[in-house]
Amino acid sequence: MQKIGKTKIEVSEVAMGCWPIAGITSVGVTEENSLATLTEALNSGINFFDTAYCYGYEGESEKLIAKALGNHRDEIVIATKGGVHWKNKKQVTDSRPERIRKECEESLQRLNMDHVELYYLHSLDRKTPLSETAGVFNELIQEGKILSAGISNASLEEIKEFHQVCPLSAYQPRYNMFQRDIENSQLPWCQEQGISIMSYWPLMKGVLAGKMSRDHVFDPKDSRLKYPVYRAEEWEKTQDFLDVLRPIAKQLNCTIAQLVIRWTFEQPGITVALCGAKKPDQIRENAETMTLEITSEQFALINQAIQVRGPVKN
Ligand SMILES: NC(=O)c1ccc[n+]([C@@H]2O[C@H](COP(=O)([O-])OP(=O)(O)OC[C@H]3O[C@@H](n4cnc5c(N)ncnc54)[C@H](OP(=O)(O)O)[C@@H]3O)[C@@H](O)[C@H]2O)c1
Repeated sequence: MQKIGKTKIEVSEVAMGCWPIAGITSVGVTEENSLATLTEALNSGINFFDTAYCYGYEGESEKLIAKALGNHRDEIVIATKGGVHWKNKKQVTDSRPERIRKECEESLQRLNMDHVELYYLHSLDRKTPLSETAGVFNELIQEGKILSAGISNASLEEIKEFHQVCPLSAYQPRYNMFQRDIENSQLPWCQEQGISIMSYWPLMKGVLAGKMSRDHVFDPKDSRLKYPVYRAEEWEKTQDFLDVLRPIAKQLNCTIAQLVIRWTFEQPGITVALCGAKKPDQIRENAETMTLEITSEQFALINQAIQVRGPVKN
């Protein structure tokens, strides 16, 4: 277990990312599977659930959490986010204090909770002075609606600016084996300040689970095709990398997804891996990572393979 920043709130190193169950970009999401996945997460040792105001056009993700886990409030830690909403199925970023307050209060209603443990600014509109946005986070803390503050998708300068007005407990960036740009900027500073890093996209939206074959045919509705890593040379390079990981996974009697997730939250400064899932067997597999034992020699082999593959072009 890990603490959120300098708080006493304890969270599992693997969190369930609740974006896929919103059903907007994932193919074949059903309410039955989503509820079962949330329950399975808790039964598998995950106590940390990451959602947002905009996960679902009508807050479906938060409502599903309330439905599946409402009777387990004392056993779970909820992080949600505000500052992004949908208008005519298009995302709008708005970090004005009144908007953040409205979204936070609506999220609490959807979750059927009187507070959340962690509340993030999801994204910055870069029009509203950040000090004003951070100010409303302070108010929400004083009112007991949120127990700690976080920021996502922000530069180091923006994190510092927010932190000056409202002390941050968590930062949520994209981070995985091939997208490690925070390592030379935000990560060391957050580490120094005791701010937790909750990394999203550990599996790069699924490809690093190693279950899609080289000739995988994507459903045309599968939104992942828009990312370079799912196309052409980047796809081939990743498949070559996964082939190097296969014997290591076999030796450990684990799956590639488990190797990848474990590597992610083992990195210095990384507190939690936010693992999205839409089916119970996926989240069970991801949770089992927390008890996996990998030797330093095996980590060295994984690191060597990462070096050979190189970073993914954005
Ligand atoms: N702050 C932000 O702006 C931001 C942005 C993105 C994400 N996030 C957070 O981070 C979380 C993680 O990101 P993500 O859900 O987009 O991506 P992810 O965790 O990298 O990948 C999730 C997808 O991988 C597949 N998968 C998961 N476990 C698997 C397993 N064991 N075996 C095979 N496939 C598996 C599933 O897709 P298929 O079954 O469809 O293959 C699943 O939907 C989100 O849910 C959200 O909470 C935050």
